[in-house]
Amino acid sequence: MSLFFSRRKKERGKGDSVVLPQHIGIIMDGNGRWAKKRGLPRSAGHTAGAQNFRTITRYCSDIGIKYLTVYAFSTENWKRPADEVSALMTLFKQYLNEALTDFKDDSIVVRFIGETSAFSEDLRELIIRTEEESKHRNGMVLNIAMNYGSRDELVTATKKIAEKVKNGELSVDDITEDTVSDNLYTAHQPDPDLIIRPSGEYRISNFLLWQSAYTEFVIMDKLWPDFTKDDLDMALEIFAKRNRRFGGI
Ligand code: FPP
Repeated sequence: MSLFFSRRKKERGKGDSVVLPQHIGIIMDGNGRWAKKRGLPRSAGHTAGAQNFRTITRYCSDIGIKYLTVYAFSTENWKRPADEVSALMTLFKQYLNEALTDFKDDSIVVRFIGETSAFSEDLRELIIRTEEESKHRNGMVLNIAMNYGSRDELVTATKKIAEKVKNGELSVDDITEDTVSDNLYTAHQPDPDLIIRPSGEYRISNFLLWQSAYTEFVIMDKLWPDFTKDDLDMALEIFAKRNRRFGGI
């Protein structure tokens, strides 16, 4: 049993439920610094980060998280040196192939958020296949944010809404917050309750800007490849103690 669950069980009476977030977002940051500390190339940090992505994803599914969104590649990450971008693309292919079989045992539904048309044909095919093969499962929904930027997502949603107005499918007066939410990549999913950023940086970095209006943030001073299940438990404990008011009192 995890640290979180064993401690909570002792603290609370039998039958009491724990306050678990329904949807967690993770900014998997610190791979480069992890590699540098060891005198390794940055790509080695991404490999270690990808292994940890698999471990933490399966753990979230095991403990009953319903939605997990991981930030794997941003719209701004193309600015990195070509060899680093290429190493990341190779890793995505390798890990998506493994995810096809690995996540099957956990019934994990894999979805991609972001402008995936920018990727190579073989990676795009893998993305489509991964979504197709996992869509009938009934476990945790894993959103992998790839070539994702929240501002880009909002521009895309605005264009979709404008198009519907132009075609007469929607009137301007009927545009609500739900209209915006329903046109995002995360349409019909709950907003994240908790976003975790390892590596000690206090930034949102263009991740889920609309969806995180009332999200609780936990910043942890651990680089992503060093981030363990116990660290996740610690974030869950911090989350459980937060008093969420959603603008009320
Ligand atoms: C940020 O750390 C991390 C990334 C840009 C890449 C994250 C990707 C993975 C963990 C691979 C996941 C694989 C799949 C299939 C989803 P950084 O490089 O900015 O670290 P730094 O701030 O220390 O330089």
